[in-house]
Amino acid sequence: MSAPLLEVRDLSIDLKLEGRMQAVVRDVSFTLSHGEALALVGESGAGKSMTARALLGMLPRGAKQSGAVRVDGESVFEMSRKALSSYRTKRITMIFQDPRAHINPVRTIGDFLTEALRTNLGWTREAAEERVIGLLDDVGVPHARRRMRQYPHELSGGLLQRVMIAAALAPDPDIIVADEPTTALDVTTQAEVMAILSELQRERRLALVFVTHDLELAAAVCDRTAVMYAGRVVETQGSERLHSEPAHPYTAALLGSRPQMSGDNGALVTIPGRPVSAFEAPAGCSFADRCVYSQDACRASSPRLRPWRAGEVACFRVEELHGSLVPEGAPDA
Ligand SMILES: Nc1ncnc2c1ncn2[C@@H]1O[C@H](COP(=O)(O)OP(=O)(O)OP(=O)(O)O)[C@@H](O)[C@H]1O
Ligand SMILES: [Mg+2]
Repeated sequence: MSAPLLEVRDLSIDLKLEGRMQAVVRDVSFTLSHGEALALVGESGAGKSMTARALLGMLPRGAKQSGAVRVDGESVFEMSRKALSSYRTKRITMIFQDPRAHINPVRTIGDFLTEALRTNLGWTREAAEERVIGLLDDVGVPHARRRMRQYPHELSGGLLQRVMIAAALAPDPDIIVADEPTTALDVTTQAEVMAILSELQRERRLALVFVTHDLELAAAVCDRTAVMYAGRVVETQGSERLHSEPAHPYTAALLGSRPQMSGDNGALVTIPGRPVSAFEAPAGCSFADRCVYSQDACRASSPRLRPWRAGEVACFRVEELHGSLVPEGAPDA
């Protein structure tokens, strides 16, 4: 059997926070094949961005990681600096949340877009320019040739995010990691940009790891969704089933906390308590303090992720709760 395109196995990450090493990601595992899209969903501090960055071997200085990230069987954490730089161009690229923070403001869009092709892949300027002009058309940036000579401040946030998508596509990678690529944009532009990214992903059979807070958006874009809480994956499931039959109380609570467009008053129902990072998590199940279904046993030890229907769930009560978890979260008292 050949190795999966992307394999993450028992990934744990510790970062130096307030002078000491603290856990931010714990035991995350998943695989991804060509053409597949996986969403990482969860509240702030869950470890989504750290997991995403680990895929590119791009953790903050001083980070300590364990477990493995492998691409076609090759370990990313063991790559030489040179191999890593080639890996980050040819195999995997990243789309960040805020394009303005990642595109050099004093260089032209054309320079930004062609840089990796020219420097890392040895393309001529002409060939690189032709390639990225074609891509700008694909991502819906009008007047592509003129845009190449412009500077980032001359473009709207939506256009700049399309430029970042074009840059991510330019070296023709196998995997794209998109970390909340549209949260900085207004709602209409968000929808347009996501539609383009999703269409290109399908068309080009790209493997996509899509980080978002939004379960609905995750389901629209991704075949599978992994829900993260306090540094761990607590449920992985086909996106549609996750949506209609959440198996982990946290997933159900997240679904219930979305603004209900068709509901009474569009009010945002939030999950009681605040989200925690891995290092702040209580002993036992990390979600127990906020879970309306938790019992003493949930605080005594930590539930492992185990197979459940077509996916995996980390909850002691998954069998008992089956069928009774409604997206609104709270049981009838
Ligand atoms: N550069 C960093 N240095 C130290 N700690 C960090 C760094 N970046 C993130 N953290 C911490 O690591 C934990 C996980 O952060 P991460 O950014 O992965 O969360 P996230 O799920 O992406 O959250 P959000 O939805 O807010 O983006 C948090 O506690 C965060 O404070
Ligand atoms: Mg993040």
